[in-house]
Amino acid sequence: MPIPTADTTRRKVLVFRELPPDQLARLQALHDVTVANPRVPEQVAAFHAALATAEGMIGSSFKVDAALLAGAPHLKVISSVSVGVDNYALPALAERGVVLCHTPGVLTETTADTIFALIMASSRRLVELSNHVREGRWTRNIDTDLFGWDVHGKTLGILGFGRIGQAVARRAALGFGMPVLYHNRREVNVAQDAPELVGKVTSAAMDDLLQLADIIAVVLPLSDETRGLMGAREFALMKPGAIFVNGARGAIVQEPALLDALNHGGLRAAGLDVFATEPLPQDSALRTHPKVTALPHIGSATHETRYAMAQMATSNLLLALSGKQALAVFPVHK
Ligand code: DGY
Repeated sequence: MPIPTADTTRRKVLVFRELPPDQLARLQALHDVTVANPRVPEQVAAFHAALATAEGMIGSSFKVDAALLAGAPHLKVISSVSVGVDNYALPALAERGVVLCHTPGVLTETTADTIFALIMASSRRLVELSNHVREGRWTRNIDTDLFGWDVHGKTLGILGFGRIGQAVARRAALGFGMPVLYHNRREVNVAQDAPELVGKVTSAAMDDLLQLADIIAVVLPLSDETRGLMGAREFALMKPGAIFVNGARGAIVQEPALLDALNHGGLRAAGLDVFATEPLPQDSALRTHPKVTALPHIGSATHETRYAMAQMATSNLLLALSGKQALAVFPVHK
């Protein structure tokens, strides 16, 4: 069979979140590019105008719902600078045959670092105690009321055992001597996917994991199945004194139930990188809660990793627009 020649047509491309200049230049060399960020009020009109003719889109952190897609009749490819695809209306993309690309792999270790940092910060009260020093309250040796809780040796429960969950497990099991329980919807072949973890991690039913783990970390994608997964029942199952960490998506957690578990239940602390509404509203009780270490969705936010994501997303878009197989296509089904 003859190899199809790559399609070199110049396409209309809409960049809806800033890209590093060299990656933008890669797109501009081959396509007609409009940069318009719909989160910037002065650029909203340009964004919608470009959407009307766009064949490719690249960006992140913006809801691309069915109504928005209706304004993009020529769209063929969306390249998301993210691994999560919960911002995209998957059924509408499937219906339209739009290819959705994303960036798994390149952010795994960085996101696992963030989640482990939240585990450490929550257990050892790092932010609270750093503020103790910063605010001039360190006037005598600290007493038991400011002591933390050991991380090493504690049982870690990981909800979601894909790439990032496994990377968190490596840090816990190999670095901190922690027994690890994991729960994953699909069976994980640990010997094949993470041989270094054989004998160090154990699959558990979700309720068992919640009841047995000292520290619970959520590393699940947001989907119809996981939205609101962590509610009052789930928090009530946790051990008194347990720690809860969310490095995935805020909407997986019912925030009122989390607050109730922190205020009236046995939850020791929570480390949160993600929230149901982002940026976290000023009046959210989670923002200033003494038991919460809150971060502004920084899972993958290092210079190196954000650059790698932008580079992969740019390659994805260029490949898909030229009719070739992109590096990572998210399967959207009808
Ligand atoms: C991702 O890649 O999904 C990160 O959470 C950034 O949105």
